[in-house]
Amino acid sequence: MSVPPEFIALYSGLLRQGPGLPEDVLWALERLGLSGPLRVCDAGAGSGADCATLARALPEAAVEGIEAMPEFVAAGQARLAGLPNATLRLGDMAALTGPYDLIWSAGAIYFLGVTEGLTAWRKALAPGGVVAFSQGALQGGDEPQAVRDFWAPEPGITTCDGVLAQVEAAGFEVIGTRLLTGAPWQAYYDSLSARIEALRPGASPAMAEVLAGSEREIALWKQAPDRIAYLLVLARPR
Ligand SMILES: C[S@@+](CC[C@H](N)C(=O)[O-])C[C@H]1O[C@@H](n2cnc3c(N)ncnc32)[C@H](O)[C@@H]1O
Repeated sequence: MSVPPEFIALYSGLLRQGPGLPEDVLWALERLGLSGPLRVCDAGAGSGADCATLARALPEAAVEGIEAMPEFVAAGQARLAGLPNATLRLGDMAALTGPYDLIWSAGAIYFLGVTEGLTAWRKALAPGGVVAFSQGALQGGDEPQAVRDFWAPEPGITTCDGVLAQVEAAGFEVIGTRLLTGAPWQAYYDSLSARIEALRPGASPAMAEVLAGSEREIALWKQAPDRIAYLLVLARPR
């Protein structure tokens, strides 16, 4: 993955690299009825925000974050130092081995494609294992221009029904869904805005361009906060 250093500097300073709240993780664990000495993977963990939530919520479990960007791994390892049941390592989430009882993945499966990602992860699931992932999704009907512009960098974006069809195409059964709008995005963009302001003084032209790109993203979200969503999907192999 070739990522500009300015982008890394901006995003590695955040507590997380995409929308999501601890409540979303806790909702999934409760809905799935998970507890005890499980083996859990956080695929595309960024700087490990959800690894920490998973490790605290499942104190008997072993939580392994896998992330492709070394700078995010370094930031996350520092943050997880006080959690003995959580680790974060550099790796490729397309090549998970497991076996895991739960593969959690917030805002990352789109790098692989939903069907392709689930197909790869099936081999890494323990018997009875489940996947919980969040993925950008349109809510259907007439999308405001701001929504179409917001998702333009992700040409594969589809509706919630479209995401569920991709899950089915991988041979998985959908156990539950939760639409993530509003609060998780607000929290994420509040932290991103603060980081942008911190980096603005003396920013190089390349950094100013990266900051402007992120400000455009935030401005588009503000135009349609109820229509820009992640769909959190709980699924198991059929
Ligand atoms: C939108 S961020 C979400 C990060 C984190 N899950 C969160 O919610 O804060 C997506 C993450 O997936 C990671 N990623 C993309 N492709 C990957 C791969 N093949 N293996 C591991 N991580 C990957 C990116 O580096 C990025 O950190």
